[in-house]
Amino acid sequence: MRQSGFDDPFYQPADPFFPANNKLGLTFDDITLATLYSEVLPRDTQLDTQLAENLHLNIPAISSDMDTVTESRMAIAMAANGGLGLIHYNMPERQQLSEVSRVKNHVHGLIQEPITVAPDQLIGDVLKMIEERKFAFGTFPVVDEQGKLVGLLSGHVVKPRYAKRKVAAALTPRAQVHTIRQKELGKDPIAHADKFFNEHLGIHKLLVVDDKDHLRGLFTMSDIERIAMERNAQFKPARDAHFHLVCGAAVSATRNAFGELDRERILTHVGGLVERGVDVVAVSTAHGHSKGVGDTVKVLRDAFPKLPIIAGNVTSAAGVEYLADCGANAIKVGQGPGSICTTRIVAGVGIPQMTALYVCSRAAAKKKVTILADGGITKSGDIVKALTLAQAVICGGIFAGCNEAPGDVIEIGGKLYKQYRGMGSLAAMKAGSAARYGQPANPTQKVAAEGIEALKEACGSVDRVLAQLIGGIQSGMGYLGAANLSQLRDKARYIRVSPAGMREAAPHDVVELKTGS
Ligand code: XMP
Repeated sequence: MRQSGFDDPFYQPADPFFPANNKLGLTFDDITLATLYSEVLPRDTQLDTQLAENLHLNIPAISSDMDTVTESRMAIAMAANGGLGLIHYNMPERQQLSEVSRVKNHVHGLIQEPITVAPDQLIGDVLKMIEERKFAFGTFPVVDEQGKLVGLLSGHVVKPRYAKRKVAAALTPRAQVHTIRQKELGKDPIAHADKFFNEHLGIHKLLVVDDKDHLRGLFTMSDIERIAMERNAQFKPARDAHFHLVCGAAVSATRNAFGELDRERILTHVGGLVERGVDVVAVSTAHGHSKGVGDTVKVLRDAFPKLPIIAGNVTSAAGVEYLADCGANAIKVGQGPGSICTTRIVAGVGIPQMTALYVCSRAAAKKKVTILADGGITKSGDIVKALTLAQAVICGGIFAGCNEAPGDVIEIGGKLYKQYRGMGSLAAMKAGSAARYGQPANPTQKVAAEGIEALKEACGSVDRVLAQLIGGIQSGMGYLGAANLSQLRDKARYIRVSPAGMREAAPHDVVELKTGS
C-alpha cells in the first residue's frame, strides 16, 4: 500500500537519504527508521540470510572472532540458535583445528565430555568438587585411567554421610549401567535417546561408549525433553548438508620471517580447517583493503574454489570491490565502531557505521557479494538498522558476558562480570593477534594498542540473549511491514535524529525500576 506523499520529503529510502547526508558520517543513533503500513506480525517474520552460495544462516547473527567471545562453546550455541560463530585465531593453529572439530562433531543434546570420577576417589572428594565447581548435578560416570567405563555414581549416594566411602564401593556397576554404542546413534541421536527414555521407566541417564567401552558421551532425560520442546521453535539450528552445526574460523594474513605472505602455512592451516569441515573462513584484519589481505584471499580462493570466504575489515566501496575481486564472498564492514575499539582515537581513522554500511552495500550489490555489519551494536534496534543495509551483523560485546564466552565469571562488589578485550589491546596482541593490526609478532609496551581491556556484566546464556535480540529484530520488521530481510532492505526509510530526539528515544523523566532486558 502506498503511503501519503506528505511523508516522502521526510522519510527517505537509503538512496536519496545517505547521499543527501554525504558530508556527515552517521551511525546507528544518528538515524531512526520510519514505520510503514504493515500486515506482517512480528512472530511471522523470516530471518534467514544467504551469505554465500554455500553459507545459509537461519538468523543474521554472527559472534566475533575474538578471544573473549568465540571458541567452540560459543560457536555451538550460535549455530544451535541458527547463527554462526567465528572461532578466533589467538591460539595455536592445532588448537583452533580442534575447536572447529568440537563444533562439527557436536551432537545436540549429547554431553560430549561429561564430568567423570575415578573409582578410588572418596565420596567426600566428589562433594568437594561439586561445591567448588558449583555443579547443579550429582550423578557422574565412573571411568578408569584409560577412560573405560566402570560404572555410574548415582546422586543418591553422593551424600555427606557417605563421605569416607570410596566411589568404587558406592557405584552402580558397569553391567547395570544403560549404554549405547556411539556408532548406533544414527542420523537422529535425539530421537534415539528419546525412544530409549520412553522405554526405560525411571532411567534418566544414557551413556555413550565406543567399541572398546570408552566413555564418549552422556544423554540426560531433561536435556532431551527440552530439545523436543525446542524442535517446534521458529529458528532452527544452522546446519551443513550432513546435519552438523555450521562453524567458521578466522585466519590471519600470516607472514614469514622476511615479511612475505606465508602462503604455504596459510594453505596448510586452512586445508586442516576444511578437512575438519569448517563452513567458512574469515580473513580478519583491521585493514582489509590491503595487499596482504587481498593476496591471502586470492591464495585461498584458488586453492578452495567452493569455500565461502569472509574478508575485512573495510569501510569504503573501493575496499569492498577490491576484496570481492580477490574472491571474497562476504565483506566485514566496520573500522573503529566496536565497544572495545580505540582505532578512531589512536589512528584517527574509521567511519561511523551507518554511512560505512550504506557506501559498502552499494558496491557489494554491484559485485554480488554480501556485507556483514561488524561492531558497535549495543541493542536490537541497532541490528534492525544495520540489517536495512547488511545481510548479517557481527557482535562481540553483546555476547562477551554470556556463559558460553571463554573466561571465568568474576565477582566485583556483589556483581558478576566476564572479561572482554579488544583484539588490538596490548594483552590480546601479546597473546598472538598482533598481525591483525599490522604490529610485530611480539609487541612491547611501545606499540600503539587499538583496543582496550574491559569487563562485561555476566548476562546468562546465549539462548537468552539471542531470544531478546531476535524479538527486537522481528518487532522492527513488523513496524516496517517486512516479512523477510530482503523486504526490510527494500522498505527501510530513514530520517536523522536530533540530540533531543535521541534523548526522547530512551526512557526519560521516570525513575526506572526495571530495565527492559
Ligand atoms: P562490539 O561493539 O560488538 O565490536 O564489541 C566487536 C568488533 O570490534 C572489532 N574489534 C576491534 N576493533 N580494536 C578495534 O579497533 C580492537 O582491539 C578490536 N577488537 C575487536 C572486531 O571487528 C569485532 O568484531
